[in-house]
Amino acid sequence: MIEQIASLKTELESVSIQSAADLENYRLTYLSKKGKVAELMPLIGQAPVDQKRIVGQQINEVKQLAQDLFDQAQQRLEESGPVLKKATDDLSLPVLPFTQGGLHPLSLVIQEIKSVFFRLGFTIADGPELEDDFHNFTALNFPPEHPARDMQDTFFIRKDEPGKPDLVMRTHTSPVQVRLMQSQTPPIRSIMPGRVYRNESITAKSYCLFNQIEGLYVDKHVTLAELKETLIVLAKMMYGSDVKYRLRPSFFPFTEPSLEMDVWWERKSGGQWLEILGAGMVDPNVFKACGVDPDVYTGFALGLGVDRMAMLRYGLNDIRDLYDNDVRLISQFA
Ligand code: PHE
Repeated sequence: MIEQIASLKTELESVSIQSAADLENYRLTYLSKKGKVAELMPLIGQAPVDQKRIVGQQINEVKQLAQDLFDQAQQRLEESGPVLKKATDDLSLPVLPFTQGGLHPLSLVIQEIKSVFFRLGFTIADGPELEDDFHNFTALNFPPEHPARDMQDTFFIRKDEPGKPDLVMRTHTSPVQVRLMQSQTPPIRSIMPGRVYRNESITAKSYCLFNQIEGLYVDKHVTLAELKETLIVLAKMMYGSDVKYRLRPSFFPFTEPSLEMDVWWERKSGGQWLEILGAGMVDPNVFKACGVDPDVYTGFALGLGVDRMAMLRYGLNDIRDLYDNDVRLISQFA
């Protein structure tokens, strides 16, 4: 009995498995239900009572050995080439089409912009899309009758209810600046990406919702020169060191002085300037409304039009393409 087991062990050790066919042969001969290992099983029953244990142990050892040899050979063959696992496997068949998911162009551009600002030492922050009048307008130095508060531009969620603040879908990411300055003491150096809403007619250039990335840098002695340098670094890192850009004086209630940046968009039909951001030095009135001392601190703020930047980056003509979620467009960015 013991010899029978030992001889199978010797036999197993001498088997050579060189191909997928050998492997299958081995499996049938030794490991299958009617294979040589299975044939040993009845021996346990036949063994005298005092030997059952030892016979059982030895059979188990052989069984394990047979399995190990199989596993090792299989791994060796897989590493050296494909193994046909089933008769139906046909390596000459064309593969099934492989569809890979991709990031939306807006996500891609947001990631790129973030990485530029992270390199410049900015952190990230966010705030609510449903804002109150104070954060969206008043603290940002919008006079009470400023046209931007007009029903034309703003989606009011609650208006003129006695004792309750007006609620709006935020029209820009600048209210997050206010929240940051209220909750942190300078130095502050953060970017704040997010969705904003405007009640505008929908065209190729404007949509009722879009994306902005706000930037805020507040510290002692922050200068306009630093703002300019930051914007130029951004434009070069996004569009290449030979990017054509211009900075134009502008107006925002919450910055003084204010400016806008345009980037040249080269097209077959001739080029055009495309505005990508507004920026400026934080107005002292904004500091006061947020509890920051304007005699101690200065700062710059900027608001990037992410959609414009994505259109420019990927040569898209219509902002609505970014929100239709047509897979035929988006899959081009996979
Ligand atoms: N919030 C402004 C807008 O939506 C952009 C801006 C941000 C301008 C910060 C200056 C500073 O148009």
